[in-house]
Formats: sequence, C-alpha cells, structure tokens
Amino acid sequence: QPDDIDEAPMGASVSTRRTSKLAIVGAGAVGSTMAYAALMRGAARSVALYDINKAKVEAEALDLGHGIQFMPMAEVVGSDDIAVCADADVVMFTAGAKQKPGQTRLDLAEATISLVRKVLPLVTQVAPNAVYVMVTNPVDVVTYAALKISGLPPTQLFGSGTVLDSSRLRYLIAQHTGVAVQNVHAYIAGEHGDSELPLWSSASIGAVPVLEWQGVDGASPMTGDVRDKIAREVVESAYRIIEGKGATNYAVALAGSRIIEAVLKDERRILPISSLLNGYYGIDDVCLSVPTIVGAGGVGDRLAVPMSDDELAGLRASADAVRSVARQFGF
Ligand code: 2OP
Repeated sequence: QPDDIDEAPMGASVSTRRTSKLAIVGAGAVGSTMAYAALMRGAARSVALYDINKAKVEAEALDLGHGIQFMPMAEVVGSDDIAVCADADVVMFTAGAKQKPGQTRLDLAEATISLVRKVLPLVTQVAPNAVYVMVTNPVDVVTYAALKISGLPPTQLFGSGTVLDSSRLRYLIAQHTGVAVQNVHAYIAGEHGDSELPLWSSASIGAVPVLEWQGVDGASPMTGDVRDKIAREVVESAYRIIEGKGATNYAVALAGSRIIEAVLKDERRILPISSLLNGYYGIDDVCLSVPTIVGAGGVGDRLAVPMSDDELAGLRASADAVRSVARQFGF
C-alpha cells in the first residue's frame, strides 16, 4: 500500500462527479421496458427503478444490469425504497392500474389518481428538482391531477401525451406511402385516447404537404378515405395490442426515452407532450397534447400550429372530454 501518498487518488474526484440520473416509478411492463430503452439509447448514466414489489423491482434491475456490458456505459439499481429516486434529474411515472381488454384509458382514472396521491409526494420529496413525466393512463387527466397534488410548476411536470400516438401515425403514413418514417412529419394532438386527432393540415412528407401528396408515381395519394382509415387505426392501436398481448410496452418505452433525452440533453425537441394549456387557441385549464418545445427546463413554448376549422373544433372537443373527466374526480 503506498501510504506515503497523502493526496486523494484521482478516482475519488471522478467518482463523486454528478451524472444524469433517471428514476422510473413502477417496474411493470412499461417501466421496465422504458429502463431498457433508455439504457440501450444511452439516455442516462444512472437509472433507478422504484416499485412497491421488492422482488420484482430487484429482479428487473438485476436482469438489466447483466446486460450493461453490451450497452453504452450506465448503472442501474432497483428498490422498493423511494430513496432510490433521490436527486433524479428526470422522473418517469409509469405506476398504475393496468388496462384490461375492453377498458378505455379513462376507465383507469380513479385507481391511478389514488396511487398518484400516495406515491408522487414521496418522490417529489426526494427529487424536488427533477422534471416529472407522467406516463400512466389516462395520462392527460393524471397529469392535471399530479400538478394539483404536487404543487409543482406546470413547466416541471407534464405527460407523455401523444408522442406515442404521433409515432403510430407516422408509421402508418410511412407504410402507406413507402417512404421512411423519419421523413414523415405529422402530429396527433389532443387527448392520448379516443378523442385525439391528427393535424393533417400541417403534416408533411419530405417537403410535400400530406394533403397534396400523390405518391412518387401517383400510386399512393393520401385521400380523405386513407386519412380517415389511418386516424382510426391510430386510435385503435392500443386496443388491438392489449387484446393480443395484454399491454403495450415497446413503442411507449421508446417514446418515453425520446422525451428523457430531450430533457437530459436539453435538446429543445418539438414533441406533442401533454402540458397544462391556458390560452392555447382559447383552450384553458386542461392538460392536453400539442407540439411543444421540450428541453432541460421541461415544458417550453407551444407551437402555434396552423389548424383548419375542423382540427380546431376537434382539439376543443378533446379538451372538453378530458376536462370533464378531471372534474368528475374533483380536479
Ligand atoms: C398506449 O397507447 C395503452 O396508452 C397506452 O399504448
């Protein structure tokens, strides 16, 4: 042992340096897969999983940890002690009731809100400066309730909203037109649920407006029928997946990781997250998804997306639907 060296070894200062920390509340299908997606994409250096089920959360963390050799460098821990979330930079809230075949997202409101009431204050106590992203359904109602319960500023807490639905929309447009999904720019706005709507009038493929798209050889026009079919399919996607495998997890986890990266890397991405709207096209006092700039501070400016009269009416109807459910639960 070189006991004549009185300087602290180099490693000490390195290991105490602060790195980005992601905490995920809920180690179910969504939470665990989100941890996996975030690790695979190198979204955070440190990932903490919290769940009341000790055996499950420890097993998930162990299984993920065993794969770290094959991922960008990170560490992962899992615990039933809320302290595992301490000083997180981003908290993804995925805990809640599971949607059964035949149930809508709104059917889950009561169970999820009571869980948020119990768990969210514990998390905000140990991670007061984190950006909070609610993922649990019905996400818009839950986000609104979570803002009231936590007292956090509406920039610091938002919902994953229609980031997933928008990727479903882009996927279906890409399938129909035969172009890469990355070249499709289209947003689903409104509720993450049955009243959501595609903003067709501002959507584009490459630089071509979707409403003018005929296809490279005129073979894949985005006609009204095609658009209606795609819009229906987006709404029905989750039901179809839940019918077949009991839950959705992969795409929502990737959408979640996209949001995490936007915050932790301060990317200023335009994402249709669900945030508290006040005065957006006359819509007030409801959490809803519209294209929004997301960065280190959480919710940034919402884009004043040009909308057709029908789209605006659809967005307002969606706001009314979400607000009335929130009111039913006293929010
Ligand atoms: C989804 O859209 C069920 O909200 C979940 O996949």
